[in-house]
Amino acid sequence: MKNEIKIFSPATVANVACGFDVLGFCLDNKGDEMVIRKVSEKGIRITHIEGYDLPFETAKNVAGVSALAMYEHAKPDCGFEIEIYKKIKPGSGIGSSAASAVGSVFGMNELLGKPYNKTQLTYFAMKGEVLASKSEHADNLAPALFGGFTLVKSTLPLDILQIPTPKELYATLIHPQIQVKTADAREILPKEVPLKDAIAQWANVGSLIHALHTSDYSLIHRSLQDIIVEPYRKQLIPYFDDVKYAALEAGALGCAISGSGPSIFALSKGKEVAEKVERAMQSMYSKTDIEYNTFVSQINTQGIKIL
Ligand code: HSE
Repeated sequence: MKNEIKIFSPATVANVACGFDVLGFCLDNKGDEMVIRKVSEKGIRITHIEGYDLPFETAKNVAGVSALAMYEHAKPDCGFEIEIYKKIKPGSGIGSSAASAVGSVFGMNELLGKPYNKTQLTYFAMKGEVLASKSEHADNLAPALFGGFTLVKSTLPLDILQIPTPKELYATLIHPQIQVKTADAREILPKEVPLKDAIAQWANVGSLIHALHTSDYSLIHRSLQDIIVEPYRKQLIPYFDDVKYAALEAGALGCAISGSGPSIFALSKGKEVAEKVERAMQSMYSKTDIEYNTFVSQINTQGIKIL
């Protein structure tokens, strides 16, 4: 059996407009690389971090915390070293902490001969996600591990559904270069919501799931609406309404905050439209004094993978 493995841990979009904390999808050209090494000395050590300034101390690093959760459960007769090549900017809203959290447990599981399934790996990774966001949610973790669209039906017990991906669906992302901490973006949300808003929101979640199953792009368009979270969080993202307007005008099926922001995503039918949406977002944001970057991605149906 191999003693070292290099993996690609993908970026993800959580919430997908209407599905706060339950829906997510996986991106295919943005992600971290990690090397996981099995060593004789027991324990978990983070030996290398590149890209961003993150803690080396295992118990303070998201990848370390999820690795420790799995290590304490598996009690293997070995230790692990983790190298992190961070490409997803922390606090960008495309599952940076989730990529770290799933990367370590996925790699360790492979080196141990796969004793755990992906749902069990999600459980360990949730322990790492808590460190970053102060909340146990799995809507970035599940699509990173399973690929495609996922619905976290419950976290206790963990119940994850894989939802089909319509073939022509493309995502466009814009990342304004400001940082929004997930914990802060959760803090500003109301603790209760009016029943009429809840009704509208769960109708959209149901119809979005149906639309993804039937590749009904018009229904995807009608379902990609968030009336509960977006009104609060958009205040943290400069020019959110303008970007959304530009994306929809350019033909996007929908446009909403990616995870807890500040990234904004749009979904489109076909690469051409997705690229037109990208140009529309760029043209809008170029008028502001905020730095940004954009990219177009197919939906990654494979999820995390060995390189
Ligand atoms: N569902 C989470 C949120 C995703 O929106 O707070 C970010 O971790």
